[in-house]
Amino acid sequence: MLDACPAAVFSILNNGQTMLKQGTCRTKKTWPRTFSQEELKKRLSPIQFHVTQERGTESAFRGEYTDHKEEGTYSCVVCGAPLFRSETKFDSGSGWPSFYDLVKEESVTATDDFSYGMHRVEINCSQCGSHLGHLFDDGPKPTGKRYCINSASLGFQPKDAPSASSHPSSGEGAEAGAGGSSGGKIEL
Ligand SMILES: *[C@@H]1O[C@H](CO)[C@@H](O)[C@H](O)[C@H]1NC(C)=O
Ligand SMILES: [Zn+2]
Repeated sequence: MLDACPAAVFSILNNGQTMLKQGTCRTKKTWPRTFSQEELKKRLSPIQFHVTQERGTESAFRGEYTDHKEEGTYSCVVCGAPLFRSETKFDSGSGWPSFYDLVKEESVTATDDFSYGMHRVEINCSQCGSHLGHLFDDGPKPTGKRYCINSASLGFQPKDAPSASSHPSSGEGAEAGAGGSSGGKIEL
């Protein structure tokens, strides 16, 4: 039934904003890796589930990786696919982990997102389709891109740790650094 869905219809408002007229009409896409919602509800924290499966957004400055500066690789919390390297992480001041490049171009899938009366580019994991965050064009050189990503959609593998995706049990990267520590760490 959703297959017969026509392309979304947009109208330009007087103020130049684009607005979705014909809403929530989405073709169901299949991803290389799928996980049952039931399993994910058990495995993920409520915020991880909300962000990755329900397009949620964590509160700014609250995510555990916003000020995280360790060397390593950030991966999809749902399927483990590597997404970003610490070398491309930068402090955007936005309150969310920000990166100017991907591990691999194909790691994420970008789609137009017209929710909240704005036009943004939504970023999902290309392997499992999990929502990660949004992409903006005001990032630093050399790419000029800013991947604004929810901590709750990410896992982290420190550079010199064995590849097993175990997360440290206590206080990783907990040095109170220059950026000032913003309390609200989400327990995994
Ligand atoms: C990205 O993930 C969200 C789930 O949080 C989903 O609603 C959305 O449709 C996904 N985007 C695409 C292009 O499938
Ligand atoms: Zn994934």
